[in-house]
Amino acid sequence: MCGIIAAASTRNVGKLLVQGLHKMEYRGYDSAGIALHQHDSIAHLRTLGKVQLLEDKMIAEKPKSKLGIAHTRWATHGEPSESNAHPHKSQDKVYIVHNGIIENYVELRESLIEDGYEFSSQTDSELIAHLLDLYLNQGSSMLDAMFLAKAKLEGAYAIAAIDLADDQKLVVARNKSPLLIGLGTDEIFAASDPLAIGQLTNEFIFLEDGDVAEISAEAYEIRDKDQNTVTRDITNIDISNQATSKGDYKHFMEKEIYEQPQAVLNTVDGRVTSDDVLDNIFGLGSTELFAKVKRIQIVACGTSLHAGRVTANWLSAIAELPCQIDYASEYRYKNPHVDKNSLLITISQSGETADTLAALRYANEKDYLGSVTICNVPTSALARESDFALFTNAGPEIGVASTKAFTTQLAGLMLLTLALAKSRDLNPRLRGRIVKGLRSLPDVITKTLELKDEILKISPNLASKDNALFLGRGIFYPIAKEGALKLKEISYIHAEAYPAGELKHGPLALIDEDMPVVALAPESEIAEKLVSNLEEVKARGGTLYVFADPSVSIDVNEGALITMPQCDFLLTPIVYTIPLQILSYEVALLRGTDIDQPRNLAKSVTVE
Ligand code: G6P
Repeated sequence: MCGIIAAASTRNVGKLLVQGLHKMEYRGYDSAGIALHQHDSIAHLRTLGKVQLLEDKMIAEKPKSKLGIAHTRWATHGEPSESNAHPHKSQDKVYIVHNGIIENYVELRESLIEDGYEFSSQTDSELIAHLLDLYLNQGSSMLDAMFLAKAKLEGAYAIAAIDLADDQKLVVARNKSPLLIGLGTDEIFAASDPLAIGQLTNEFIFLEDGDVAEISAEAYEIRDKDQNTVTRDITNIDISNQATSKGDYKHFMEKEIYEQPQAVLNTVDGRVTSDDVLDNIFGLGSTELFAKVKRIQIVACGTSLHAGRVTANWLSAIAELPCQIDYASEYRYKNPHVDKNSLLITISQSGETADTLAALRYANEKDYLGSVTICNVPTSALARESDFALFTNAGPEIGVASTKAFTTQLAGLMLLTLALAKSRDLNPRLRGRIVKGLRSLPDVITKTLELKDEILKISPNLASKDNALFLGRGIFYPIAKEGALKLKEISYIHAEAYPAGELKHGPLALIDEDMPVVALAPESEIAEKLVSNLEEVKARGGTLYVFADPSVSIDVNEGALITMPQCDFLLTPIVYTIPLQILSYEVALLRGTDIDQPRNLAKSVTVE
């Protein structure tokens, strides 16, 4: 979603800001823009489409500036267009960039129109520039004007603003949308995503809700919501270039698929012995708290929710705990009943997904024993606001379609399941078996990645179709859902997933030669039943592409039967995800879509 970068420096910042925008392209956006202070005027460039177009404009116009703000926009209020792109301005004096949503924008806009302001966009953001201008005209400094504006704004925002009257300083504000400061040498940055400035500094300050900061090349001052000057911790993070470059891969998604053996190793490493999970890996006191847990509530969105659905099966089988799972966007609207001794689990790659964060905040007011997050970003809001956390250590995931973040979430969630079982002294032999399976998982994933050549043979058959059906049963139904989600996200093929037993209750009507059916058939007590479901598909002319355990036999006619490497049955959902990721990637490659930044989607969804 939208990305902000701002800089105050003793050198020219135009190029740095555009480089920062490039680093945030993975988040998803539809337009980009920049405002650069030039002492007696402000250069204002905006483009619809890729950051490269903005860069081309910059190369043509060569604006020089040591103070500037820049933005990638993902449309919420108003279509993607140049006039709706940020920065927005007031009277050619005040320029702002904004992430988030201003909920009371209609009333504020009307009142500013009454004050004589003219609007040139359909956005909810432009009013922030006019509001600041109003207070600056009344004699406030930009810092004070920002506090006055904040008092009016309802909703989520990260804002950066510059004023023609001051070529040294910019002001930023944060409320429920991520924003951080980066400290360089003779230059200070602000950004919504550490990756945007990871090339420029390793020293970050994560602002808190309500904070406003004034930034110049040499100094910064942070004031909290009560306007008191505060000191916030400086966090050192090395975001190496390697982690954010594609290397020899065509796309980040491809790189991230093939990184999975190492990523899963990073999740498990140091958290298990040879036959059990270590105590307190979710934080000091977690083992003690887990012993009291009687019920689990999971909330998450998108791919992370699929990880949660697999976990619900694991919790029941291994930790003997009942589990309720909800879309984070739905959870707080269903008036949830919270049983005594319930534990809340949130799952999120980014740790910034607005609905998941809102669900956590809502749950914090309820009678939960505590909250645990499984997250890939230690500095995220979700990580900071949860009682306990396990970081998946997957490294930055840039492709919008989640791959290594999902498999590492599953590995982390299995550790959580084992920790809950251990704290309640349950199933020690089973725990030992699974831990061995987790330790050998990177090797099994490596073998699974070698199936690429077989998958390449079937990808043209799917690439030429408009629909696809994914089937799985039991613990594989969420994996079928994840496979369908991957395919639709990046290839724009309509794909749906069903538990195979539901076929005859409707979807069988869709089966014909134009409906490829991808099925997951691991060895299990339900394999036989699944095979009968697949026969029903074949009998109606559907083409089957089956990923199966060597023990499963089925005649697939013109389709394909791809034999999967074996591992502990309870861990097979992780392994069966891999060929579905490769299949989606190869199909999307054939269809020529924008794989890393699929249309209309965002990596980090910071609005509700
Ligand atoms: C977006 C992304 C998905 C992701 C979902 C949840 O929709 O495109 O890939 O699964 O958000 O994100 P989270 O960061 O909370 O896991």
